[in-house]
Amino acid sequence: MSNKVIEVISNFMTAYSNCSLYSKDHPSVLQISARAVNAMEQLFEDDTLRLTILGDNMYVNDRPFTEKSIHTVSFIRHLRRKGIEKIFFRAGITGEELKAFVAALTLAEGTVTGSPHISAGIVEVLMKSEDDEFIAKNIEQIKALYDNLAEAGEHLLPEDAIEDALSALKETEQAEDAKDREHREASSHFKKLDMVGIEDVVSGMISALRKEINILKLLSPSRPATEYAFVHAANVSALSLFQAAALGLEGEQLQDVGIAGLLHDIGKAFIAGDLVERESALSKEEWNTLKKHPVYGAIYLSTLPDAPSLAVIAAHQHHMKFDGTGYPGRKKNETKPHPVSRIVAIADFFDTMRIGGGAGREMDAHVIAGLLKDSAGKDFDPQLVDNFLIALKKSEIIR
Ligand SMILES: [Fe+2]
Ligand SMILES: [Fe+2]
Repeated sequence: MSNKVIEVISNFMTAYSNCSLYSKDHPSVLQISARAVNAMEQLFEDDTLRLTILGDNMYVNDRPFTEKSIHTVSFIRHLRRKGIEKIFFRAGITGEELKAFVAALTLAEGTVTGSPHISAGIVEVLMKSEDDEFIAKNIEQIKALYDNLAEAGEHLLPEDAIEDALSALKETEQAEDAKDREHREASSHFKKLDMVGIEDVVSGMISALRKEINILKLLSPSRPATEYAFVHAANVSALSLFQAAALGLEGEQLQDVGIAGLLHDIGKAFIAGDLVERESALSKEEWNTLKKHPVYGAIYLSTLPDAPSLAVIAAHQHHMKFDGTGYPGRKKNETKPHPVSRIVAIADFFDTMRIGGGAGREMDAHVIAGLLKDSAGKDFDPQLVDNFLIALKKSEIIR
């Protein structure tokens, strides 16, 4: 494969040089562009060749490309200068199309837009594929579910309700029976979350996961900070399902893990939006408020009769670490977080790193895998980290 990649890039850069030296209409530019297109054909995966630039590194079809030649180095540099982090070439591309793209790149001014078989842009701008449509639909659905919540107008939970609800929460974790649920339903004064909608989103994700081996394709790329909550919810759900499926969970159990992932940060809906979306540093007080979201979330979910208890537990425990640190604090004799919370914690970390907190750059899966390994046994359950990494390897996301 690497020879073909070098062939594509050398031809691309030669076409680029000739275009700058002569003009875009010089016959050599079209000729060499056509050569690049020919070489590309053997590199298509799912009819697409994906080139991603991250710093000085390039990824070809999501795998690191380590062979540096003069051409690849200058290719990376030129694209970066134009603010391009990703280029997708799709089957059907012609020499003419590539020539026009190369010509646009040589211009000092203006942004480079794509054409029918070429998409280029920063990580936010991905080509429209079925995956993207699937993701967009999911996010719209999740957004609607959250909006529904926000309409309740209750951004902050009354402080004194927390203690009562926490003891109810304890019951939820110990014994979940219908009576408790009914009781909580009657006492609930929160707006109901549309659990049917939530289940819909998760079912859709489970069937997509079955078809799609590369979980990363089901994850949404970075989005504006205002959409971060929904994107993150969808991604954590997909990543939790991915782990649970690798553990062999099926049916309702699997569905419940997906719901737990989707709703893990629901408590943030009760914290003023500007605090949640803020990209700059938070004061200690603000940080303490934000740290209440696991408790708020668990309280809220425990009032919903149809919310699975796994979702309540994961909302409550997803920031508790394997070694007993994290928040909210635990009593001395309390056991480790529930396995579902440990799964969600791994998913949460992976997505937070990957998406760069909604503002930064995407981090490569290999780097995150390394970080997870380093903190196995401390922050994360080592067996679950192994399970996750093995599953990522099996789907050839990491080596
Ligand atoms: Fe959280
Ligand atoms: Fe989270």
